[in-house]
Amino acid sequence: MKFFSDLRALVAAGCALWLAAQPAIAQSPREHLALDAGWKFHLGDDWPDALHRENSGTGSGPAAEQFADGFWRVVNLPHDWAVGLPFDQTADGGHGFKALGRNFATNSVGWYRRAFELPAGDSSKRIWLTFDGVMHDATVWVNGWMVRRHEGGYYPFREDITDVVHFGGHNTISVRVDATGSEGWFYEGAGIYRHVWLDETAPVAIAPDGIFVSSHFTNDRAEGPATIQMRATVLSQQRNAGAVAVDWRIVAPDGKEIPEVAHETADFATNSELDYGRDVSIASPLLWSPENPRLYTLVTTVSVADKVVDQRETTFGIRTVGFDATNGFLLNGKPYVIQGTCNHQDHAGVGAAIPDALQEFRVKQLKEFGCNAIRTSHNPPTPELLEVCDRLGMLVMDESRLMGSDSENMKKWDDQIRRDRNHASVAIWCIANEQFAVQDTPQAGHIARVMQDYVQQLDPTRPVTYASPEDDVFRGINSVIEVRGWNYHYGPQMDRYHARHPDQPNLGTEQASVVGTRGIYTNDHAHGYVAAYDVVWPGWTTTAESWWSFFAARPWLSGAFVWTGFDYRGEPTPYWWPCINSHFGILDTCGFPKDVFYYYQSWWTTNTVLHLLPHWNWPGREGQEILVQAFSNCQQVELFLNGASLGKQAMKPNSKLAWQVKYAPGTLSAKGFDAAGNVIAETKVETTGGPAQIQLVPDRQTIKADGEDVAVFTVAALDAQGRRVPLALNKINFAIAGPGNILGVGNGDPSSHEPDVFFPSAPERDVALNIWHWQLATIPHNRATAPEYATDFNDAAWNTLNAKTSGGESTIKTPNTTAVYRAHLTLTEADLQGSGAQVCFSGCDDEGWYFVNDHFVGESHDWQAQPIFAIKEFLHAGDNVIAVGVNNSVGEGGLNPNVTVKLFGNAGAAPWSRSLFNGLAQVIVQSTRGPGEIKLTATGDGLAPATAVLPTLPGTARPSVP
Ligand code: GAL
Repeated sequence: MKFFSDLRALVAAGCALWLAAQPAIAQSPREHLALDAGWKFHLGDDWPDALHRENSGTGSGPAAEQFADGFWRVVNLPHDWAVGLPFDQTADGGHGFKALGRNFATNSVGWYRRAFELPAGDSSKRIWLTFDGVMHDATVWVNGWMVRRHEGGYYPFREDITDVVHFGGHNTISVRVDATGSEGWFYEGAGIYRHVWLDETAPVAIAPDGIFVSSHFTNDRAEGPATIQMRATVLSQQRNAGAVAVDWRIVAPDGKEIPEVAHETADFATNSELDYGRDVSIASPLLWSPENPRLYTLVTTVSVADKVVDQRETTFGIRTVGFDATNGFLLNGKPYVIQGTCNHQDHAGVGAAIPDALQEFRVKQLKEFGCNAIRTSHNPPTPELLEVCDRLGMLVMDESRLMGSDSENMKKWDDQIRRDRNHASVAIWCIANEQFAVQDTPQAGHIARVMQDYVQQLDPTRPVTYASPEDDVFRGINSVIEVRGWNYHYGPQMDRYHARHPDQPNLGTEQASVVGTRGIYTNDHAHGYVAAYDVVWPGWTTTAESWWSFFAARPWLSGAFVWTGFDYRGEPTPYWWPCINSHFGILDTCGFPKDVFYYYQSWWTTNTVLHLLPHWNWPGREGQEILVQAFSNCQQVELFLNGASLGKQAMKPNSKLAWQVKYAPGTLSAKGFDAAGNVIAETKVETTGGPAQIQLVPDRQTIKADGEDVAVFTVAALDAQGRRVPLALNKINFAIAGPGNILGVGNGDPSSHEPDVFFPSAPERDVALNIWHWQLATIPHNRATAPEYATDFNDAAWNTLNAKTSGGESTIKTPNTTAVYRAHLTLTEADLQGSGAQVCFSGCDDEGWYFVNDHFVGESHDWQAQPIFAIKEFLHAGDNVIAVGVNNSVGEGGLNPNVTVKLFGNAGAAPWSRSLFNGLAQVIVQSTRGPGEIKLTATGDGLAPATAVLPTLPGTARPSVP
């Protein structure tokens, strides 16, 4: 790459502000199309030879262009197949005891295929294929050409596939995903769990991730005019593209275009890539912050000879971020306390495949308790999470998976920074988490410096940290990193460190790790449940009250990130099996609040908060003392049992209150007072009756009919008086009608082994074609016709190949020799009533032409191909003939035995169900593109059913590949 400052071939130099007439804004030829819907999916490594690399452009099995995937399941992206796997006590508990990994080979490789058409008229375009993230290793073929092998589940990858596509024809993408290995020590999912995109561009176009926009103020004070630096990298795949112009316009948050525009032209005579850059000044910018997430839009337009060849919109925020050794984190030049949470990408029902609308739901849940920052632990985030954080107002610590200054790691670091650096939400980069073995070594120090310096090159607007699990240690990474990160170790060692290194800013990169199970108030080792009072459990952890009180008293610490916002699968701490997920969350895996949610809400928001725990259903415990806590930010709280006062207590800032209360059923209530003694809050918990009816509550009133929007339904049990029953565990069944699908179900129970996803299953029957009649035969040159293929041809006198006894011996002994093979299949009318039939060959040496009852069904040209053809339409009751013409080119060859016909029955509806856990469960529903109402019905034994109706609103689906 050449930097523009080195470029002297400016056609029009020095036009910082270009206010002359711009080229007429024609429709940009770029199409940015989602490639999410309608993938075919098969679980299992059934074609191990497909990875062979002897020849170019000849993928075999599902990697081949021609492969019958008709009976593979249809899935939409994002997709995580691990979420549907069973739990197994012998599996890796850290990853959530899913039957995945080395000991579960058949569950650990999946195949995806997607067909698409390209119009002949697009043949002058470049075609780019982008995967935002595939867990874990991916091999990608396009039309049988292997175009990419990519390792690593958290990084995007992209290929220019122009050379191998068919313009004016049918194209096939095949992806083999190997999720055998792992990268983290937590649940990571499996499959194409982020979006896939197809971009079509003109030969001269903005480079992928080729736009960078940043805002700057004098002295970083975020006062007065802002300088907006706009940069664009343009690619040319056209010889002598000549003069190429870039224009920039900015649209303000109110939708009005700002008057300042910029223009620059450069000569592409001998270059294939050039960087452009201009600055403009905005006199009174509207600043971005989590409280006021105001976004501007940069419109970058590329033109050749006054004709628009590309245009992209980039949203950005005008704001400054910085870390100060004395005043902590500075947002727009002012101290701003980071009230953050660390989060893995994992949600009940869907695993790692989080739809964009669910990302939004999760961010809103975090904001509810005052969280203003997310650490994307321990990996680069899904781009749409950043988009939601920009829009809703949430800071982000954007983390790399591993550190390393080797070319592969630096390429990943480069990709991550270029992709994410325009997001207003991203406040700091993190090079790695807890590298215990190496963090103090000089080598790790060197690498940290290289990664940190690289950020200065690509994004000088943000600092860099490392999530260090050390105390007062200033060696290796800690000695070079811009912002000292603190994972745990709060206490005197932090003060000591700060005193010794007064110029280094500090940030709590990971704190708390308080454990608790929603709705549980007694530790229960057998079930793997932990009491949800704010108490310490694992040795390295502490209560919310202790760590936050310490940080709140020290402005130089910048605030911190709690481990974690949401519970996640894996790391079942402090108990192991049958527990399958973590207990660290302020919210459970569904996003239902645990009690500690109200502790943070009390001290992280300006809302008046008063919350009592536990619930008040303790049959059999009458007269025994029960610990009652109040999370509140009122000055004083008075507790009452059945109307009698149990005393008033003063609340110290950042603390909580406790009473020991002798249990009697009824009403436990509290009043909260302000400093003047006025009652400003009241709350109560009541002893309820047993579950009598189901309640279904969607998180919204309508859903967009765009095939992407998601509604999250809370399922609860109510008693006869309509009160939520805190201990209900009833099994609830779900049925959906109208333009929506259930994506998954959950209940936040860290020890639940119930499925999160259900599939309609079609019965399947295999018929082995063991007996083949064969004979050497001359097949005409095009191989598509020969008398020996005919159904009524008499093959009685031919040789017999018996798959069971042949021993796999070749039938054709000489090269350049052809033969025909025929088998008979008897079917009944009942066999043909199902949804379809396939014939599955285990291959032929070297080429084959396949016929069913005189119909040509396909061909193969690679001895490793294992072709499968959909044949139901050619079958009939009675005798059917399957004929194959084989050409053996070299050595010996012939038809391989082990040919099977698969007969598929008809699938019924998926039997969705989930038990309530402590009164609650969750159903995640996604719209289709159809109009009308989505109707979700919930039923359960002995309970009055519930139906929720969600009207759809017309929605514009994002541009997609049909
Ligand atoms: C930290 C680690 C996290 C998680 C946490 C549990 O040390 O960075 O990934 O394992 O412990 O408390």
